[in-house]
Parts: sequence; C-alpha cells; structure tokens
Amino acid sequence: MKLVQNSWNLGDVISVNHSIPIKFIEAAGADNTENFIRLLARDVYSEADSQSLYDYLTGPDRQWGLSTEVFAFLRMWLEDELKHYRAIQRVYRAVSGVSYEYIEQQEADRVHEVEPINFVLNNEFTFLVALAFDEFGSTLSYRRDLQEYYRHYGPEVASVCQHLVRDEGAHAQNAIQLLIERHGHRLDEVEETLSQIIELEASLGRYCKTFFLDHAQEQDRFPPFFNEVVVQIILSRLGLADKPSGARVRETWNWKPVGQHLTPVA
Ligand SMILES: [Fe+2]
Ligand SMILES: [Fe+2]
Repeated sequence: MKLVQNSWNLGDVISVNHSIPIKFIEAAGADNTENFIRLLARDVYSEADSQSLYDYLTGPDRQWGLSTEVFAFLRMWLEDELKHYRAIQRVYRAVSGVSYEYIEQQEADRVHEVEPINFVLNNEFTFLVALAFDEFGSTLSYRRDLQEYYRHYGPEVASVCQHLVRDEGAHAQNAIQLLIERHGHRLDEVEETLSQIIELEASLGRYCKTFFLDHAQEQDRFPPFFNEVVVQIILSRLGLADKPSGARVRETWNWKPVGQHLTPVA
C-alpha cells in the first residue's frame, strides 16, 4: 500500500540558531507571545512523546501482532514526529530564549504512562482508530495555532506550522488507508470505538505523556463541537457519513471563547 508523506527538510525551513526579528515580536504583542510560549512549552514535549508510544508498540510489552504495513507506517511516522520535536524546539528557543539543554533535560525527566490509555493500545484496529482521531485533531489544532500564533513571528516560524499541518494531515490519511486495507471488515465498529475513545479522553482529564489524547490538556481551547467534527471527518473518509461542511470545519479553528480575541493557553 502507498503511504503518503509530506517531505521537507527542517534545516531548509528554520535554522538551529534562528532568531525572530524584534518587529514581529512587537507587532504580535506581549499577550500573544506569553500565550505562544505556554503553547510551545507543551507542544514541544507532546511531539517528543511519540518515541515512548513507538517504543511501546514495537517493544516486548505489546501483546498483539503488528502488521508489516503498520510497522512501516510507524517508522515513517516517528521520523516525522521527532522532526516536529526538533522544529518546535527551534521555535520555542527563538520565541522564549530557553536553551536546547533545558528543553532536552525537561524531556528526559518526563514520566510516560501507558496503563491509563491501555484501551487504545489493545489491538491494531483500535490503535488505528485512535491514531486517526488524534492526527485529525492535531491537524485542526495546528491550523488554529498557525492562525493565532505561528504566523505572527515571521515566515520561518509560519512555515514550520504549515508543515506541521500537512504532516499531521498525512498521518491521519495514512491511518484511514491502513484501516480500510487492514481492517476493512471492522469499519462498522469505528463509530462506537470513537465514542469510547472520546469517553476515555474525557474521563482521564489529563494528558498521560504517551502521545495519544493530548488534547485532554487543552480542551478549553476548542469549541464544544470539536470532537463531533473530527468524528464526522473520519467517518466520511471511510465512506460512512457525509463530509462536514467547509464552514463547519473552519469554525473549529476560528472559534474563540466568548469575549476573547484569542483562545488563551492555560
Ligand atoms: Fe506531530
Ligand atoms: Fe502526527
């Protein structure tokens, strides 16, 4: 099967020593920059958490067979996610002034919990449904971040986020393709599985630092209908529902809490 990958070279997009011209920082305003730093301080590590998910899925603790196709996908996926980690590191350092040593130390100190999200790691089918849910969610989420934050800090920073959007979209599309090709006989279970994943995410109320369900840490930044749109996108890509309208999809990243000019990052 053909996997899709958005290919880009990090060094061509943003350099390791990138610094942001002061005019962009001034134009963005202090409020925007403070929120952006809080956002980057979270997202940088969530991207690095892909390694712990990969290690679990390819390690001795997994109790089920992993198909060659999904394994091939995971290798490509990890390469992208670790590139996202390095890309966001560069943006985070440039915007906030923290050092790479500090970021790497924080990353190394993280505790990754698998147990609470066991449900989504139980078999290949559920894993792929969760992956589609997570990656479509990330695609919409980075679109919002591009509009609210990344685009204000110069073309290099904006370009990083455009690649994040494309990569997460490609990951989601690959998850759909793998579901169709590897688990086509179980597509009628997708909707119910998505409901269970959403229930799990709501009941966790926190992010377990194993990549999946990281939107649990930022539910206030999304409109109440966010999950509904993600579910409809997935079902439509599987041929099980109509596509959500373009306007409805755009609302997921244009939405703001009442009285706010941006969705603040707690
Ligand atoms: Fe990513
Ligand atoms: Fe991704």
